[in-house]
Amino acid sequence: MIDKLNRNIEYLRISVTDRCNLRCTYCMPEEGVPEIKHEDILSFDEIIRICKVVAKLGIKKIKITGGEPLVRKGIVELIREINDIDGIDEITMTSNGVLLDEMVEDLKDAGVSAINVSLDTLNRENFAKITRRDKMDQVINGIKKSVKLGIKTKINCLVIKEHNYNELCDIARLAKDDNIQVRFIELMPIGCGKQFTGIPNEEILKMLEDEFGEFEIVKEKLGNGPARYYKNKDFKGCIGFISAISNEFCEECNRVRLTSNGFLKLCLHYNKGIDLREPLRNGISDDDLKDKIYKAIYNKPIHHEFYKYNSVDVEEKNMVEIGG
Ligand code: 5AD
Ligand code: SF4
Repeated sequence: MIDKLNRNIEYLRISVTDRCNLRCTYCMPEEGVPEIKHEDILSFDEIIRICKVVAKLGIKKIKITGGEPLVRKGIVELIREINDIDGIDEITMTSNGVLLDEMVEDLKDAGVSAINVSLDTLNRENFAKITRRDKMDQVINGIKKSVKLGIKTKINCLVIKEHNYNELCDIARLAKDDNIQVRFIELMPIGCGKQFTGIPNEEILKMLEDEFGEFEIVKEKLGNGPARYYKNKDFKGCIGFISAISNEFCEECNRVRLTSNGFLKLCLHYNKGIDLREPLRNGISDDDLKDKIYKAIYNKPIHHEFYKYNSVDVEEKNMVEIGG
């Protein structure tokens, strides 16, 4: 559907849980965040109902996120059902990769066509420091299996000066040796992320060029999002950059988000949106639900204001509750 700024909104990110089996320092405090009560989380039936309605509004692509989506019981069946909805032509997911090795075959069978795996380091000790859990080997095995099964697999590397500045060339090398996309994500000042130092993507590109030689921008559109991709003649895969800060992409934004407790969130930066859970539980009709969602999306915010000190209605939650 088209919003009031003429943007085509066709992509919904659904956070199916706020729980996670890692504790990344930029995402959550050590003790975790207060978990949403089970009864406050949307049931699978409620999620599917919302998906059917938004499919009628022109949403075509769904991304399943979390927390960590693979910790929610029954997730494979949910994915299968969403994939069967008329009008939904792509279902993908983000994952921290910890459970991928055990689950990726079932995910493929349920219709998942692409998986973004978060991986900020290739050093086991550093991984344990960043995520507060010693699980890097599982993640690497999961990535390998996903690639082997022919699922489009991308690595999301969140660049933080205090964490992985010295490893970026090593991580980029994953895209040299295999047809994998490695994407460097600029830190956004959200929740626990505010205490760290991000690096502008331009600086990373320069660092990679010093190591690997020239990178050329890829002109054709890859993926559904705002990443810009670069190719190097010696690389099998591409390098992507997601620069929410240094290159605001709100003008081309195509997405909205559904949180695990049923809030339709219209922009990453703001707490603006509408609650869908109460109306669903109070027996709203499909037509009224569709109308409500349409009106909300139509009025999606114009752009984020991450660096404006006095912007209003800003999101106070951590990334784990939003789903990235
Ligand atoms: N800024 C940018 N990306 C973030 N993520 C978590 N916190 C932040 C932040 N403050 C990323 C994770 C993961 C994705 C779900 O969100 O690295 O790849
Ligand atoms: Fe879990 Fe992802 Fe947050 Fe890490 S960034 S704690 S993997 S939700």
